[in-house]
Amino acid sequence: MTVRGPLSQRMEAVQAPVIPDVAALIRDTPGTISLGQGVVHYGPPPQALAAVAGFGNTPAEHHYRSADGIPELHEALRAKLAAENAIDVDDDRQVLFVTAGSNMAFFHVVMSVCDPGDEVIVMSPFYFNHEMAITMANARAVVVSSDQRYGLRVDAIEAAITDRTRMVVTISPNNPAGVVYEPEALRRVNELCRKRGIYHVSDEAYEYFTYAGTLHLSPGSLPDSAGHTVSLFSFSKSYGLANWRVGYMVAPRPLMRALQKSQDTVLICPPVISQVAAVGALQAGPAYCRSYIEAIDAVRLMCLQRLQELAPHCVVPEANGAFYLLARLDTPLSSMRVVERLVREHGVAVIPGSGFGLTDVCHLRVAYGALEADTVKAGMDRLVQGLHAILNRA
Ligand SMILES: Cc1ncc(COP(=O)(O)O)c(C=O)c1O
Repeated sequence: MTVRGPLSQRMEAVQAPVIPDVAALIRDTPGTISLGQGVVHYGPPPQALAAVAGFGNTPAEHHYRSADGIPELHEALRAKLAAENAIDVDDDRQVLFVTAGSNMAFFHVVMSVCDPGDEVIVMSPFYFNHEMAITMANARAVVVSSDQRYGLRVDAIEAAITDRTRMVVTISPNNPAGVVYEPEALRRVNELCRKRGIYHVSDEAYEYFTYAGTLHLSPGSLPDSAGHTVSLFSFSKSYGLANWRVGYMVAPRPLMRALQKSQDTVLICPPVISQVAAVGALQAGPAYCRSYIEAIDAVRLMCLQRLQELAPHCVVPEANGAFYLLARLDTPLSSMRVVERLVREHGVAVIPGSGFGLTDVCHLRVAYGALEADTVKAGMDRLVQGLHAILNRA
């Protein structure tokens, strides 16, 4: 007999992710160029693949390993964090914790920190998986609006803090807006969190994707940040290892026991072969990712320029990070409706802003990192043409 009882209220409350809906549209419309995918077009460095080539010849290599990651990866990560992020992991105050991707790290942190009804401050537009994790933990995402260029409004964040607030989440470089937050704004948020006794969770999945001389700041490098800052990192984007599922965090030590419980329950230990690939990737180092940045930047500028053709009916603040542009459209149509029409009538896919909590005004996220430059160019031709038609300004 098939059980047909209700699903948990917890899961019923979670928004359905939009990506599978867009993926279904793309499947139904062969030949669609997808400017939707949040991944890079390049694969992992050869060092990562070489590292796993000899993996698995002994039974012991297939056993469970430590919950927080293998020592070889810890050692390489400590060196990386010190050199790249100016975070010297202080074992008395912090833990370094490897997970199966940084989404999982975020989930563990929410499970570890939030009781039902607690509040987590996220910025609008938010990253949907953050909001979903918060809702799954029966906590509440308190969405604080950003400024017109998607920058942080620190005063608004401060005003949103209540006695139920447990953490403030920032993502820089940002998905979906592509903005890199001003170092001073991040510093103020971090200090605010310290003063109010709440966590600052800093998602840095796109740490290497900055352009036009913009620098990335890890709030975890700031003085007096170790006790309240959780820094999340990922191998998915920089090293082209998205489906290998390796991420890691630096977190205040008091979270350790709770993180271990969550990790032990859902994962036991991060996949060892993926960690071995990550050690190999770190041998290639950030030079690997940086070798692609100039070309990605050229694609970014091309996309920005093409979208300007639709001004003033389409506004796209210049965004110096990640590989996203967030377009604001002057149309009464919903963003999902616009995406449906773009796919079906013009053969190009982007992600609707509704997935990121932008439901009042139509927004579209354009991702320019997942395809070779020529394909992005062809996709932009279709997008600009399609939007001209949809916005009725042909
Ligand atoms: C802001 C942000 N954090 C985390 C992730 C997921 O990273 P991972 O693959 O390490 O789970 C993404 C993926 O799109 C992202 O955009």
